[in-house]
Amino acid sequence: MSNESAGLQESHPMNGGDGTFSYSKNSYLQKEGSRFAAAMVSAAIAEKLDIKKLSSGSNVFRMADLGCSVGPNTFFYMQNILEAVQHKYLSLGLKTQIPEFHVFFNDHAGNDFNTLFASLPPEKQYSAAGVPGSFYGWLFPKSSLHFVYSSFALQWLSKVPEEVLDKNSPAWNKGRIHCINAAEAVANAYTAQFTKDMKVFLDARAKEVVAGGMMVLIISSVFVCFFLDLLGSSLMNMAKEVSLMFLAINF
Ligand SMILES: C[S@@+](CC[C@H](N)C(=O)[O-])C[C@H]1O[C@@H](n2cnc3c(N)ncnc32)[C@H](O)[C@@H]1O
Repeated sequence: MSNESAGLQESHPMNGGDGTFSYSKNSYLQKEGSRFAAAMVSAAIAEKLDIKKLSSGSNVFRMADLGCSVGPNTFFYMQNILEAVQHKYLSLGLKTQIPEFHVFFNDHAGNDFNTLFASLPPEKQYSAAGVPGSFYGWLFPKSSLHFVYSSFALQWLSKVPEEVLDKNSPAWNKGRIHCINAAEAVANAYTAQFTKDMKVFLDARAKEVVAGGMMVLIISSVFVCFFLDLLGSSLMNMAKEVSLMFLAINF
């Protein structure tokens, strides 16, 4: 039984469907943030993606969007990456070797995958698959992914730290859902949970991404100091095998 189905991790997927309060109708900020980043992602693929290393295996390029939600943003991101990879092959005179693309859309099992798949762009140039489950754990076979993308999802912790909910703990947050002006113990509890989660995330991806692959992580800049400070060494180790792009969007 996975951690998620065992209830150890919390899952709060976005509102599904395409109604007034759905994520698909209320994700303008994320879309704009990622549109802003798209040119940088394309440039990083042009510069860093190691086509020679990647082409040695099968002719399928596998990419995953972790925390994809219900669309339509994810379709834009995946198309942007696909075109950048195709462009890289063309620029190297390798038109005949352009791979086929397989996109894995990941989110919690409770995500509205029906809406996601019902709204896949008809002109898409890739096979699509859903991969339900928490990205704070194993999701894919070893060395199976060439590109991992995640935007505005890694700020979700796997769970609220227990001590924050415990009235007898110095880290009790008095029922609040934020930690502005909270006791230092509260901030420490969230920091510890974030560190634990991100280590699990990076360990899992280190196994799943092929050597020479790429990973692009986009989060809101509010979380950046935590992220870089706490995970500097894990990120550096991973960057030796995989091209890692870490973007913080300010909003
Ligand atoms: C704000 S949405 C971002 C959606 C999309 N990436 C975008 O940029 O528009 C965050 C998504 O991350 C998902 N998410 C949060 N924690 C997750 C986890 N541990 N595993 C998988 N998905 C997760 C949520 O369910 C939600 O759909």
